Amino acid sequence: MDLSTPYLGLKLVSPLAVGASPLADDIHMARQIQDAGAGAIVMRSLFEEQIYLDEISRAPQPQLVATDGFHERAMFPALADYQLNPDQYLRQIEQLKAALNIPVIASLNGCRPGGWIDYASRFEAAGADAIELNLYHFSTDPGSSSLDVEAEMLETVRLVKSSVHIPVAVKLQPFYTSPAHFVQKLGRAGADGIVVFNRFYQADIDIADQEPETRLRLSDPAELLLRLRWLAILSPRTRCSLALTGGVHDGSDVIKGILAGAHVVQLVSVLLRHGPRFLSTLTESLRKWMVERGYEAISDFRGSMNLDRCSDAAAFERGSYQRILQNWRV
Ligand SMILES: Cc1cc2nc3c(=O)[nH]c(=O)nc-3n(C[C@H](O)[C@H](O)[C@H](O)COP(=O)(O)O)c2cc1C
Repeated sequence: MDLSTPYLGLKLVSPLAVGASPLADDIHMARQIQDAGAGAIVMRSLFEEQIYLDEISRAPQPQLVATDGFHERAMFPALADYQLNPDQYLRQIEQLKAALNIPVIASLNGCRPGGWIDYASRFEAAGADAIELNLYHFSTDPGSSSLDVEAEMLETVRLVKSSVHIPVAVKLQPFYTSPAHFVQKLGRAGADGIVVFNRFYQADIDIADQEPETRLRLSDPAELLLRLRWLAILSPRTRCSLALTGGVHDGSDVIKGILAGAHVVQLVSVLLRHGPRFLSTLTESLRKWMVERGYEAISDFRGSMNLDRCSDAAAFERGSYQRILQNWRV
């Protein structure tokens, strides 16, 4: 049976990969993940603001550092609270590369053109096989239109792409007015892959202290459906590789992701809950399902449930929406 899958021009031994997270912080853990059958591993992100803070902290004359308009330092974690500083990050790429045979994907997190983009070529020099560029962004300025926001993101992608020879995947949020159109533009800007989708890590309100409360909650399977929809819509319409991230918790979720069109299914919460070896359990479920249906390769069924044969995906979505509402009986 052939579980190999193309992703960003690389050939992965399996469509199951580890998503950006602390799981790549520890070399021993990363080896366990590889031994459990992962096709690739994505490192946690190095952040645009973290890079500026780091540069300011090292400069003999901090006021002269070009920080591209980044002035909001009080709202960000202290430099020491980032778990890998930029130098440690580059060393971690080297160490992961020395320890693993599977591709190591480094993650750069920012959405505005600026000096931080230099780290893309440093990632490449340290040995990263690809870059995942996370465009996590929250647009709150009524004066800036969706086109303005997207233009900055597209320019960021162009700059990252033009500074490296390795492939670049772009990790997106779901909240665009026309995601399919934006993905098309990302492809033209040079993106080799699209990672569907960032979760929003929103602050809650602590009503006792009347303070914002920031706490990470792991994902749950309900988050999968939004990703499946968009994979099914994007898969026939883009030449970019597609990765699913968010809400994959068992073998059937993995299969659904591939049926919808994912080349790669990324796992984080499920491995943080059950440990890295759980990846082999998920791989076994995938194999068993393939054997039962006589599939010999991932390509035999990848994308078979995408909306390629659907003449009007928007009508299909509105139709499902109405069918689901009408099915409820009191
Ligand atoms: C502890 C933790 C740290 C994470 N760090 C990053 C990060 O640095 N960069 C990033 O793009 N995503 C990060 N993520 C998001 C994951 O890559 C993933 O997109 C998200 O957890 C949804 O996938 P899941 O349902 O498999 O957990 C993190 C997630 C967790 C749980």
